[in-house]
Amino acid sequence: MKHGTVLKYIDFDETIHHSWRQLPDRGIHPDKRGEMAFDSMDQRRIMGHFATGVTVVTTWHENKPHGMTANAVASLSLDPPLVLVSVDVKAQMNGCLKASDCFAVNILTVEQEALSVRFARHGPKDFSGIAYRTEATGSPVLDLALAFVDCKVTNVLPGGDHDIFIGEIVAGGSREGRPLVFYGGQYGSLSS
Ligand SMILES: Cc1cc2nc3c(=O)[nH]c(=O)nc-3n(C[C@H](O)[C@H](O)[C@H](O)COP(=O)(O)O)c2cc1C
Repeated sequence: MKHGTVLKYIDFDETIHHSWRQLPDRGIHPDKRGEMAFDSMDQRRIMGHFATGVTVVTTWHENKPHGMTANAVASLSLDPPLVLVSVDVKAQMNGCLKASDCFAVNILTVEQEALSVRFARHGPKDFSGIAYRTEATGSPVLDLALAFVDCKVTNVLPGGDHDIFIGEIVAGGSREGRPLVFYGGQYGSLSS
């Protein structure tokens, strides 16, 4: 895999050489309640081995488009057609989604790494120079995305420091292109 920008979001400088037998010694420590909790940095390093695509989740709220880079995204159900996205309770996008009750998941191409970096910054997101349209819900659909689903929020479930937004797909589409990949805290692409 060819790697691009190294992000601050996950520090993957260290490579894990632990066997499964060694992991509990390294990763588990007593949490504030005195119970055993798994170390969050270890969780990031370990789960960083799960290669994902990269999306920008968008919505429209208070007459403004909002967007957030997200890879905690999954196809949840075919009948009914549901997807889920996990959003930090502290992210601005969390409140926007609860208010707007809709979102679009825009799956990025390998040419859109800069867009991913742009939408991963804290603070208001700038849509200037980005071509987008609306489909069924009014959420921004990025013209150059590899694929998109446009969804109505059907449920919000608590998931620790994140909320899980479940959306029913009401529109979607895809085009030819190569996906942007995220692996080990770095951007990459598929070699073939
Ligand atoms: C590759 C990548 C994937 C990310 N995935 C998620 C995610 O699934 N959920 C999430 O809440 N934040 C995720 N983030 C972090 C958010 O993009 C970032 O915290 C957010 O844009 C900050 O905006 P805000 O604090 O102004 O709301 C991801 C960041 C990157 C670089």
